[in-house]
Amino acid sequence: MKLGEIMVNIFQVVFTLIYFSFLNIGLTIGSILIAILMPLLSSPFAKYIRINHENHYKEMSKSEALIQDTVQGAEVIRAYPVYDMLVHKYQKHLNQIRHYAKKRIRFEELYMKMQIVSTFFGLIFVFSYGGYQVYLGNMDVGAVAAFLVTFERLSRPISELSSSWNQLQTSIASANRIFELQEIPQEVSQSKKKTNSKISKDGFYFEQIHMELNEREIFQDLSLHIEKHKMTVIVGPSGSGKSSMLHLLMGFHSPKQGTIYYDQEPIAVQDPNEWRMRIAYVPQEPFLISGSVIENIQLGKLTATKEEISEVVEKVGINYLIENSSANLDVLDRGGTLSGGEKQRIAIARALLDPNKEILILDEATSNLDVETENIALNAIREFVEKRTFIMVAHKLTTATYADKVVFVEDGNVVEEGTHEELMLLRGRYYKMYNQWENKENVSEN
Ligand SMILES: Nc1ncnc2c1ncn2[C@@H]1O[C@H](COP(=O)(O)OP(=O)(O)O)[C@@H](O)[C@H]1O
Ligand SMILES: [Mg+2]
Repeated sequence: MKLGEIMVNIFQVVFTLIYFSFLNIGLTIGSILIAILMPLLSSPFAKYIRINHENHYKEMSKSEALIQDTVQGAEVIRAYPVYDMLVHKYQKHLNQIRHYAKKRIRFEELYMKMQIVSTFFGLIFVFSYGGYQVYLGNMDVGAVAAFLVTFERLSRPISELSSSWNQLQTSIASANRIFELQEIPQEVSQSKKKTNSKISKDGFYFEQIHMELNEREIFQDLSLHIEKHKMTVIVGPSGSGKSSMLHLLMGFHSPKQGTIYYDQEPIAVQDPNEWRMRIAYVPQEPFLISGSVIENIQLGKLTATKEEISEVVEKVGINYLIENSSANLDVLDRGGTLSGGEKQRIAIARALLDPNKEILILDEATSNLDVETENIALNAIREFVEKRTFIMVAHKLTTATYADKVVFVEDGNVVEEGTHEELMLLRGRYYKMYNQWENKENVSEN
């Protein structure tokens, strides 16, 4: 209620009472007592309504935060099988919301009933006492009628009704939104029938990929072989399509034309979730859900034991994050309190947690680490990727020097590929980039 409206109400009450006292003193005192006592009787209900209302909205905002996490972290949530866990978490919030809402509605009902009862008693009082005064000749019927009109107090039920009407309208709006979302098609694998491809190489094979994003052509005719159980480093200027290539591998995007194979089988025919179960993926932007550091690492393997988690955090050098008091601290605001490097190492630990992953994909996953912490993380990664297919997008070119293959991408095309030594001998794009990077490194070291 606005201040102006409150003032108007106060004036109304004061002037009505002055007017009443001219009509009949006894009736006025009686109605003041009723007007004060009845709200007092229903005030505990008002308090419970408010508490439940607050709890209700607290749960609502928690569930909304979860939805926000889910949308913003869609890449990670699709990459790791955490869907059921999140649904379960959401379900819990919904149950709590329903619990508080039910309680609130019950109290609101009681509150309304108390209002009706108090109005009823008020009317009885005015009728009986007023009638008696008329009988004694102290008042006329018109004055009693004036009292009655004031007791009707229509304004409150009307305002309550109008607020419920508003609530109904917002609920309808939310429901409509949910129906819209339900109509978005689910990710499904394409037809199971095998294409009669001539691909005979194991590992990844991009065959003449054409891909558009929001009507923008990202890849025109991309062909590339990434060997199985080898380390491939993808380099290239920013915006050249490196992350998009990884998104294709993850099945986040589908090519408009062309096929991507893994071990001679198109990845599009696989169930998207089963396919991603085979991959440990660290996106360019490390994503943390609201929860503890441990919970965040656990997304990599929900059944991981404490020992497994301790082992992996030790390896990437963030044991201090789960050992000291911050262990069970929430990484609020999706990691607001952690440094960029810590977030990246949490994301790496998450990826390395599950030894059953066959493929490791990193997208500039060490960009925020200093030399020392990067070496620790890279050692853990190197140990993990033995006998695994390992693809990483790197902007620090140290990793390229020991990769089995370096792929240089520019404008959505592979312009050079080979080992570091081979590409250096070419004296082409990679050579230039490497020298520039090395000079910059030397400058920053001095
Ligand atoms: N959702 C999108 N819609 C339209 N264009 C996009 C989208 N995502 C990326 N791009 C564009 O695709 C190109 C390649 O992006 P990206 O793969 O992220 O490059 P890199 O990882 O090499 O920096 C860029 O020009 C980028 O602007
Ligand atoms: Mg990128």
